[in-house]
Amino acid sequence: MDNFNDLENVKSYLLERLRGASSLDDISKIKIEFLGKKGFLGKLTSDIGKIPLEQRKNYGIRLNSLKEEIEAQIKVYEQNFKGDVDKSEYTDLYKSLPGRKPPVGHLNIITQAIEEIVEVFAPLGFNRVRYPEVDREYFVFDALNMPENHPARDEWETFFVDYPEDEKLGKLVITPHTSSGQVREMLKGNLPIRMLNISRCGRRQIDISHVPSFYQFEGLVVDENVSTANLIGVLDYFAKKFFGPDRKTRLRPYHFRFTEPSFEVDIDCGVCHGKGCKLCKEGWLELGGSGMVHPNVLRAGGIDPEKYTGFAFGWGVERAFMMKSGTKIDDIRYLFSNDLRFLEQF
Ligand code: PHE
Repeated sequence: MDNFNDLENVKSYLLERLRGASSLDDISKIKIEFLGKKGFLGKLTSDIGKIPLEQRKNYGIRLNSLKEEIEAQIKVYEQNFKGDVDKSEYTDLYKSLPGRKPPVGHLNIITQAIEEIVEVFAPLGFNRVRYPEVDREYFVFDALNMPENHPARDEWETFFVDYPEDEKLGKLVITPHTSSGQVREMLKGNLPIRMLNISRCGRRQIDISHVPSFYQFEGLVVDENVSTANLIGVLDYFAKKFFGPDRKTRLRPYHFRFTEPSFEVDIDCGVCHGKGCKLCKEGWLELGGSGMVHPNVLRAGGIDPEKYTGFAFGWGVERAFMMKSGTKIDDIRYLFSNDLRFLEQF
């Protein structure tokens, strides 16, 4: 910085430095560098003796206005960093640039599936309810005709909660199925019953079609003259509405302690269309259980099994969603990976 032209250079160098600043501290350093005694301006001022006499006055005037400009620019940036921004001083703002759109999300796919299930059952008079997701063994097992120490309890791979046991109702568990809501619903004392209990369940399990935490939806109908034909009719109606009119379901005889007779409901696999694939193995995927409510369960709910009969079914929400036509999800764990590249497809 030792000749006349350097005045212009100082200005552009100042702007370059200011744009690169990222804190008020940076601005203070720049201020000292340019306006301090040993700074650029000080040096240019002490150089005044080297300027030819006839140009000296002009040089002095330009030096003064440069000083004012530097002070003004530094002030603008100082204010920016302090937060009290005077927008009129922004020269770098592109007013015509379009703004950035905030990303728009949607309901989680499991929530969407739950809403759809509720909508499918509503016209049949099913009423959505929720019961405790952490409940006593009594409602989970005993009331469902599985007395203490019955080996069938092992099939539910239950998580026990470390909490004092209740003398009558037993240990606290994470409900391994929504069937725990059956007797709670009966004990409300409102007949007939058309319940749709959708809740989170937990079991000690994990592989491509099982996760430790999942949702089930449980239907329970109790009325006079309810028969297996009604159960089959409702299952068929649901399968056609939810999965598509061309999908096939089948019932397999099974055994549950709380239904008699009991069935397992399968649907033809939506990924391979019945050919067999890594998810279903043989073309069918098990949706869940169903059956006619066992008289002992009705009794536990204070209902006379001579007068009333009922049916129940309990299926996995995630599983049902995966079996919808066209989803092509062949591993249930994708649903819990929170990967936007996956979730944004739905
Ligand atoms: N609760 C059973 C299960 O989780 C399913 C089921 C519900 C079976 C209702 C029969 C009746 O495996």
